[in-house]
Amino acid sequence: MPTKYQPITLNEVIIQEQSAFPYAKGELSRLLSHIGIAAKIVHREVNKAGLVDILGAAGSTNIQGEGQQKLDVFANEQFIAAMKSSGIVCGIASEEDDEIVIFDDELSLDGKYVVCFDPLDGSSNIDVNVSVGTIFSIYRRITPVGLKADISDFMQEGTKQAAAGYIIYGSSTMMVYTTGLGTTGFTLDPSIGEFCLSNKFMKTPENGKLYSINEGNYIKFPMGVKKYIKYCQEHDPDTNRPYSSRYIGSLVADFHRNLLKGGIFIYPRTNGNPNGKLRLLYECNPVAFLAEQAGGLATDGNGTRILEIQPTSLHQRVPLFTGSRKMVEKAEEFMRTFPDECCE
Ligand code: AHG
Ligand code: MN
Ligand code: MN
Repeated sequence: MPTKYQPITLNEVIIQEQSAFPYAKGELSRLLSHIGIAAKIVHREVNKAGLVDILGAAGSTNIQGEGQQKLDVFANEQFIAAMKSSGIVCGIASEEDDEIVIFDDELSLDGKYVVCFDPLDGSSNIDVNVSVGTIFSIYRRITPVGLKADISDFMQEGTKQAAAGYIIYGSSTMMVYTTGLGTTGFTLDPSIGEFCLSNKFMKTPENGKLYSINEGNYIKFPMGVKKYIKYCQEHDPDTNRPYSSRYIGSLVADFHRNLLKGGIFIYPRTNGNPNGKLRLLYECNPVAFLAEQAGGLATDGNGTRILEIQPTSLHQRVPLFTGSRKMVEKAEEFMRTFPDECCE
């Protein structure tokens, strides 16, 4: 007789977690369920990307001047629709929209939450069948319920996140999220169309053997990063070096692998880009929340915790050093030891 398969689904875990917040009315739980549904729809489209005529640039350009792929647009519309129809969200910020999108229908005006997201992360990897993701970050609004949301609702420190997570569309599709009670992972079982609990209380190793950085930018890196990369490459059996270099070019995929295996991901400032490339609100903050909840760290490389950076603009960029605690601490030590005048 086949073994009985009794998965614990995302919705079940969300409901269980809700009991830890006695004053919660289940709205955050519902919101996470809506994100799960949008994720399944994007999963379906990503999986047939090679089959249908959905590849190629959509012809428009986003605020950062990057060409948009059609699936970016599709995922963006899908997540916006899911947030709007939830009735719990009063506004969103997306990588693909220059300004915040405010929901001003009667139901949404009473929504307590705002959501920041990167609808499709690593989208340059779609054409070549490599993992991509969606990243989200949820805040309680600051403006009074019943009024229109405004930019102040989005300019909150990462420490204020009510929940955050990502979906990775990889060899399996997974959702990893936190509400501040640890980091939990779910794997989509396509045969039943449910996210099933697969990774409870995720803990990232405090040390790892992987370093992830775009070494093509080496000559533009701060001296501390250059020296840290050499440290990673040196032979020292006592500290398990040399480490292996792994870089996919999808933050979600690189972060996810390092979270499970132990490692460090660095996107530093470079000559010409003093704040690096990654966006604080919908890339760095959610990833930082997940990293910390799994026992890891996330800093800007110069001693500042990502979650404590006060945002000043919607598409703000920030350097990111994240992953295994001891590795981030070591990289920070190199940044302190080798300061330079890079990045005027
Ligand atoms: P997006 O596809 O949302 O624009 O994000 C791409 C990001 C991130 O996923 C990745 O870590 C980084 O860009 C890679 O940048 P480089 O090509 O400069 O290494
Ligand atoms: Mn991205
Ligand atoms: Mn994106």
